[in-house]
Amino acid sequence: MDVAQLKQQAAEVAVQFIQPGMVVGLGAGSTAILAVRHIGHLLHTGHLHDIVGIPCSTGTEAEARRLGIPLVTLETHPVIDITIDGADEVDPQLELIKGGGGALTREKIVAQATHREIIIVDETKLVPALGTSWAVPVEVVPFGYGSQQVWLESLGAAVTLRPGENGQPYRTDQGGLILDCNFGPISNPARLAETLKQRTGVIEHGLFIGIARDVIVAGNEGIRHLTRR
Ligand code: A5P
Repeated sequence: MDVAQLKQQAAEVAVQFIQPGMVVGLGAGSTAILAVRHIGHLLHTGHLHDIVGIPCSTGTEAEARRLGIPLVTLETHPVIDITIDGADEVDPQLELIKGGGGALTREKIVAQATHREIIIVDETKLVPALGTSWAVPVEVVPFGYGSQQVWLESLGAAVTLRPGENGQPYRTDQGGLILDCNFGPISNPARLAETLKQRTGVIEHGLFIGIARDVIVAGNEGIRHLTRR
């Protein structure tokens, strides 16, 4: 089975947890969008009804609108029942690196408003330690970003300003820049998360600590459902 099929499987398993009446966080990225499309399909065919969605990115919002999923906001619906989102890396404690698609800040805002955060991945995302194969994205205010880069390098990271289109830096949905920080395997991700969070000018970082409740992993041996202890 190829990776696309595995992502589809994980997405469909996660969507089974959605019940009528729920407020559902709609994640960003290539895996989460498969769940959004499956939700749209179930609504369209009448197998699911009476749900509302809160998208984690403008891209997800556009796709959800195209699919006819009713959307609300955190202003009218500040508590979310279930969010289904992807991840770039998952460690054995179910801590995550997210933000490969640049939506980390909205994803974390939605996640912290969520009772049950369900992460869907194919098995290639499982790592022994965060940072093994993916950089930690750090979203920063554009003003003074060079000083953030120097500071992040002082913490031991190789830092790259994420490129966007037409030779310009990538801009997030709220106009931030992303510094991708390659720390290598991170021995204490919770401590690094705290350090990053305290820096003025850092909007958010892609370490999602204590957030995932369930991780649905699709692999060639089948589906595994991991839950936080
Ligand atoms: C979006 O900003 C990300 O957090 C994604 O959820 C993450 O990068 C996983 O993306 P894929 O499902 O496309 O691998």
